[in-house]
Order: sequence, then structure tokens, then C-alpha cells
Amino acid sequence: MMSSMKLHAVHKTHSGAHEGEDARVVHLRADDTSLVVSFDHLGLPGVLHWGAGVNDADIEGLLTTSRPAVMNSSLDTPRAFSLLATRQQGWSGTPSIVLGIDARPIETFRCHRVEHVARSAVFVLRDHEDRVEVRSELSMDTGAVLRARTQVTNISATEVIDVSAVRLMLPLPHRATEYLDFTGRWTGERRPQRSLLHDGTWLRSSRRGRPGHDGSFVTIAGTPGFGFRTGEVWASHLGWSGNQESVLERLPEGAGVHSSVLGSAELLEPGEVRLEPGQSYSTPTSYCAWSPAGIDGATERFHSSLRARPQHPGTVRPLVLNTWEAVYFDHDPVGLESLAETAASIGVERFVLDDGWFVGRKDDTAGLGDWFVDTERWPDGLRPFSHRIHELGMQFGLWFEPEMINEDSDLARSHPEWLLKEGDAMEWRHQFALDFGRPDVRTYIIERMDAIIGDAVVDFVKWDHNRDLHASLSSDDRRSVRAHTLGVYSVIDELKRRHPALEIETCASGGARADLGILSRTDRVWASDSNDPIERQGIQRWTQVLLPPELIGSHVGPEIAHTTHRRADFSFRAITALFGHAGIEWDISQCSPDDLADLARWASLYKELRHVLHHGRTVRADHVDDGALLHGVVAHDGREAVFAWVRVATSSTAHTPRVGIPGLDPQALYDVRVRSEVGVARRHQVADPTWLSDAGRIQLTGSALSLGVPLPILNPGQGIVLHLTAVPRSGA
Ligand code: GLA
Repeated sequence: MMSSMKLHAVHKTHSGAHEGEDARVVHLRADDTSLVVSFDHLGLPGVLHWGAGVNDADIEGLLTTSRPAVMNSSLDTPRAFSLLATRQQGWSGTPSIVLGIDARPIETFRCHRVEHVARSAVFVLRDHEDRVEVRSELSMDTGAVLRARTQVTNISATEVIDVSAVRLMLPLPHRATEYLDFTGRWTGERRPQRSLLHDGTWLRSSRRGRPGHDGSFVTIAGTPGFGFRTGEVWASHLGWSGNQESVLERLPEGAGVHSSVLGSAELLEPGEVRLEPGQSYSTPTSYCAWSPAGIDGATERFHSSLRARPQHPGTVRPLVLNTWEAVYFDHDPVGLESLAETAASIGVERFVLDDGWFVGRKDDTAGLGDWFVDTERWPDGLRPFSHRIHELGMQFGLWFEPEMINEDSDLARSHPEWLLKEGDAMEWRHQFALDFGRPDVRTYIIERMDAIIGDAVVDFVKWDHNRDLHASLSSDDRRSVRAHTLGVYSVIDELKRRHPALEIETCASGGARADLGILSRTDRVWASDSNDPIERQGIQRWTQVLLPPELIGSHVGPEIAHTTHRRADFSFRAITALFGHAGIEWDISQCSPDDLADLARWASLYKELRHVLHHGRTVRADHVDDGALLHGVVAHDGREAVFAWVRVATSSTAHTPRVGIPGLDPQALYDVRVRSEVGVARRHQVADPTWLSDAGRIQLTGSALSLGVPLPILNPGQGIVLHLTAVPRSGA
């Protein structure tokens, strides 16, 4: 009774409720996910529930039980956890917001207004002296992904407000006991790390000026033992390409009626955001998904949310050839034309000229910044070459590293003040960053790129970023990563405005910048500089937690991988590259006719299967023997699926028992066959399971397949592609 009286009182402090709507709560619902926000005894909005879809009766129950017991040696009132968790409500954990005026904190707020339309709500809060207004915007998109961002505005007449942190902190229930996030390094991105949630703070910070190869990427909390297909999970990703942090935290006293919290934020350096009267700061968008069906469930939400974006690539993903590992800096137009002709002959649809085409760029020590075609190597410019590429029926792509500059460049000599460099700042790959916070830098880059893209008729840009920014900023440098990051976004936006059909790939020494900030304005990510298929299996598996395969560049390299010197059979390299936006990074002008025939067969297999691979549901099996992986993509109507059964290491067991094929329509009857166009995997056995050795295919229902079929025992570094198509059931 007590609580509803208080809630009624709160209702009067804000407006925006529609007629017939319960003003005590804001309920955002999509699919089977609900986010319910209610108001605590101070009138502050806080998450009442984030998880399974709830109805009005559930909400009533949640409301009447929203105030926990008063603990010993604690506050004398039940604890609450609001969207702006600060000491105001006795919150002792990481604060949601840290603001100050002359080192005096602002941490008491009241709810000023609530705007709620369909699946979106804005909670407008003000501090008690009306110096700052905070708009916390929450919306549940069609994919049931919660998108959240906050805007802080200085509404005072004269004060300057320091913004030190604005975090989205979502409460989690007690049953979320474990978590998974990622680390990594160059050529080894997105290595999963998993742990039990303990009291304390698990804080992942990136001060690299980009998320980094070791970026946390997606933080997933879940119920004990959650896997790809099982467990309840809560996942969060920050769509931001600059400094950032993710937080998982549990205090002994919990978070209101909840247990722990999951947070994400831009990491702001001291003094980086100071708001004059009338100025605002907006956080990046956090993307959060809940699922009762394991990591694959969260993945499905992220993928459908991304695919619903108007800017999501809508055309078939062309088969790529990238010249980097084929020729490196050795740009010989005659040799490159022969490479292009070979590429076209096997079915390549986009030819990308990588690093080495511009003035002074003979190696990585010089030239960055001088975005003029090197007429020593390209006497007639790039246009005739691009024309030839188009004549061969391919798109033309070109590499740029717009944010970077070598000191050995005409640009650095004429504009030393443009470098993000002070005092003893250190080089990285012989380069510094340009200060994209400067309008003149942005104008120069837009003008140069626009000219080259127009003159050379460029369809696709590979936008690279090969160093952390931190070592190029000195401690007294006021130029900021935030200004740089926003500058990068605005340059990309302007180029896209001028060239609406242009596609852009985000690359940062491979996959050090694979976030949804940059990917909301680019069309794919180069997931890693490693084309070694053993490494790639893991990198792609985990990058796909967030990104659908059509956004992840994935190339077939030569037999010996350049980054690991490990040898891999063609079939395994080809199968691995199939499950992304496929391409080739190999000097195929030197290949034997047999190798080219293999590549041509693989190219047509990719073209045949990409309608499933790039639109279906990503599925990963949990229960396979160690060293093996089963992953695939199932069409949304369940009528077709493509799976890869791969072995990346030997196993301690001698045989492969039944392997359940998950994610299929249990009622459908599938024709299951091995697609061996890319070669036959080497086996570690005497004979295949009889269904395979007798007929090479089998017909089974989706439910029988989920119970499992014996699969061949493969040698390490081998894989097979299973292609499943639904067929009419007899009598149907
Ligand atoms: C980075 C990229 C590579 C390649 C080189 C060119 O390392 O990740 O793919 O483009 O730069 O210098």
C-alpha cells in the first residue's frame, strides 16, 4: 500500500503519460523482450525489469515487490537503483553520471519530464538547482535490441560544467552469475575470456583511441553455464570508435532489488568535455540484447537489428580480391592487370588495390598523408586501371589510411601542426595520427579523397587505421580522442553524401575497430590481418556474436599463411572464408590451372550459397568434442541451411559421436549432403559413417538432426560443408 501511494505522488512530478497509460511505469516491448522502467521513492526512473516479455499483471507484481529489505548496517530505507545512480540514492558503486562545477559534484537529480511513444522513451532529469538537464533515451528496436543514449545539457546561465562520465548501467538479476567478454591482439582478435561474477568491479577500459584488438567488444552476463544455445543472457556493446569502458559490477548490497550491473560508456579524459551554457554532450549508443536462448539468441537479436537498418548493405556481397598479401607495396601495373584478369576469370566481382599506390609509398616508412597517385608507378594515374577493372566486370576498390601521416611526407613537412604529436610522442609503424578535430585537416582529407574517388571511379574504399592514438597525445595536450573520433565520423558521412553508392570497409590493423559507431556508416569490417583459417575460425565465430557474416570480410590466402607461417589445405581455407563476405588475398596470377579451377568452383559455391549465408540465422553448436566446431546459417523460413563441420585441433576422444545439428525446423524433412566442390577433407579414420559412405547424403527431419548424426572424424585443419535443403515429406 505504502509503495503505491508513493508512486502516485511521483506520477504528479512528471508528465507525458498518454490517456489510459499507467503513469507509474514505462514499458518498452519488442518480440518477447520487455524493458520496464518505474520510479523510485525520489521519483527517479530506474529499470524495474529487463528480460522476458511481461504483461500488466506481471508489472503490477513487479511494482509491489520492487523495494527490497532494509539491511543491517545500511540505509534506513529500501535501496533503489536508478538510471542516474549516484550517492543521492546511496549507490556506492560506479556512478552512472559524474558531473561537476569547479570540482563541486552535481549528483542530486529529479525527474522533470517523461516522453513515451511506442517503443521509445525519454526521461528528462534536472539537478536540483536547474544547472543541468539529462535526457536518458531508451528505445527497443524491431530486433528487440535496447538502444540507449544520454544527452547532458548545460542549462545554467553562467556555469561551466565538467562531464567526467556518463554511463549506461543496467541492473541484472541474481541468476546472472557468469560473464564472457573478449580480448585479443594483432592477428588474434576476439579471444573469449570467461569468469564467474564476484563482488567488485570488472572494468575494461580502452585508452587506445580505438576499441583495440583487445577491445571487450560485447560483454555478456548469463545464468550458470550459459552457452551458444542455452542459458539466459544479457549482452551489451558500445557503438563507439574512441576511448571506452565496459563495467560489470556487484556490490554486497546489490543494486536496489537487483543484484549486479552491466555498464558501458565513452571513457572521457579529465577536461575533455566541459560544457559552456547551452552546450550539450551526447553519449554514444549502447546496444543491449536479452535472450533466453543463449549467445545465439542474443546474436539473432543483434543481427536482425542491424539488418533492419536503412543503411545495411542491400546488394549481394561481391566476391573480393585484395592485393595486399598478393603484392604488398610492389605495384607494377602490368602485373596487377594480369592479377585482375585472373581474378575476373575465376569469378571475382570486386578488385581492391591496397596500400602502395600513392606518392612516396614504397614501404611503410613514408607517404601517408600525400593522397596523390604516384605517377612513377602509375604514369597515367589510376583511371585507366580502374577502367580496365570495370571492363573486366568488377568493381574497383582502393585503400586509404586517412587519419594517419608519416613524418616523411610532403603533408607533414608543410603542416607539422596537423599531427597529433607533442614532445616525446612515439611513432608506431613510423606514423602519427592527424588531428581530425581540426576543420582544416578534415577539409584536406575530404578534398583529396573526393578527388581520387571521383577521378579513379572508385566503388569501394578500404579505410585503414594502423596505430593507437594514445602515444601520440602528450599529457598536456588538449586535443582529444573524442574530437578526433567525431571528426572521423563526419568525414566518412560527407564522403558518403558526395558518393552515395560508395561502400567503405573499416579496418584497423585488422579488427581493432569493429564497433557499431563506425559500422553505422561503413559497410563491412576487416576482421583480422590473419588469413590463417585456424585463427580465423575463432575470430569469425566470435565477431559474429555481434556482426552478421555479410559485414565480416573473410579472405582465402595462400597455402602458407603470411602471419603464422602455418600450412593449410585449400579446402579448409575456402570453407573458412565462405562464412563471411568472402574474398581472396593471394597472388593468384601465379596459381596452377588446378588451383584456379578450385578457386572458380569455390567462387560459384559462394555465389550459390550467399543468399542463405548473408540473410539467415547464425547457429553454433555447444556439444562437439574438443578441437571441433560446428557452425552454420539457417534460412529464416528454415527451408535451407549451410553448416561447416571443422576440426581446428586433434581431440582426446577417438571417435566423433552423434553431433546435434541445431537451429533447424524440427518438422521439416531435409536433404543433407556434403558440398565437396572445394575439395575433400582429409580424414582421421578408416571409413566414413555409413550414411555418408553409402549414399553421400541422407534425408532426415530437423528434429532427428537435432538429436545428432555421426560425422566424419577429420584431421586437424580440415572441414566439410553440409548443405541442407528442405524437401517435401512423403505423403505431404
Ligand atoms: C594494415 C591492414 C592490412 C593492409 C596494410 C597495408 O595492416 O590491416 O590489411 O591494408 O595495413 O599497409
